[in-house]
Amino acid sequence: MMLKDKVAVIYGAGGAIGSAVARAFASEGANLFLTGRHLTPVEVVAEDVVSAGGSAAAAVVDALDEQAVDTHLQSVIDTAGRVDISFNAVGIPNTKILGVPLIELDVAQFSLPITTYTRSYFLTARMAARRMVANRSGVIMTVTALHSRTGIPLVGGYGPAMAAKEALTRDLSAELAPQGIRVVGLRPQAMPETRTIKEAFTPRAKASGMTWEQWQEFLAGRTHARRLMTLEEMANMAVFMASDKASGMTGTTVNLTMGSLDD
Ligand SMILES: NC(=O)c1ccc[n+]([C@@H]2O[C@H](COP(=O)([O-])OP(=O)(O)OC[C@H]3O[C@@H](n4cnc5c(N)ncnc54)[C@H](OP(=O)(O)O)[C@@H]3O)[C@@H](O)[C@H]2O)c1
Repeated sequence: MMLKDKVAVIYGAGGAIGSAVARAFASEGANLFLTGRHLTPVEVVAEDVVSAGGSAAAAVVDALDEQAVDTHLQSVIDTAGRVDISFNAVGIPNTKILGVPLIELDVAQFSLPITTYTRSYFLTARMAARRMVANRSGVIMTVTALHSRTGIPLVGGYGPAMAAKEALTRDLSAELAPQGIRVVGLRPQAMPETRTIKEAFTPRAKASGMTWEQWQEFLAGRTHARRLMTLEEMANMAVFMASDKASGMTGTTVNLTMGSLDD
């Protein structure tokens, strides 16, 4: 088992990516502390993990609330003795941020993804790192999208938000790697099983007249494999990157765009 007895905290664990990563981490032996803004979706994942023989606890933690993140992490330390993996899978609904041309976009709507994504990643990473430093060991992870590195219309402040998170991954690593803590992002291609991608489709459909099937084909056509990624494939990579097998990997975002984006 690649993550046997590793203590992992996941933020946004009730979401598509957070829950897929939780299940994959659990199947590799991790002891999970799952959190989200609302308890029910996180509890559903924790119950699934436990009924499959794994270990998971669910809690409400607003990943934008410094005190809530700190108090929860302290409870993890009090219960499990340490934290080995911090995974930020927080996402805000695309309906709030996509679809308005930049020249018409309100500054508050432009700023929302930038402040939300960077604040939650900074807070969860910083709080975990403060605990990991004591053990000179740990992995801090998050998720971005190819908007960090390529121009896409009608995505408002989402591209700058993703670029900022990738910069923060590099900077966190530059400071933390000498203390034994790795910082690694994942940049998956769109996974059409998720609500996120269905919501991202709506404004593109309005602008281009494409159907859902045509849009998936358009996105898939930009990959070398001519298909989109599954949540399972993304989660398998998350397991590897969180494991000691990836001990040589830090300060970077793994390009999971299947060839859509050159390195
Ligand atoms: N899905 C994809 O194909 C894809 C591809 C590339 C990148 N990404 C990126 O990956 C991230 C996650 O995507 P996803 O598809 O998993 O989204 P998702 O299904 O909407 O999950 C996001 C989760 O974050 C939670 N959340 C939101 N604000 C929070 C806060 N302040 N504190 C704690 N939890 C909070 C949400 O809870 P509530 O529902 O209760 O608000 C939800 O459970 C996003 O940044 C997304 O842009 C996704």
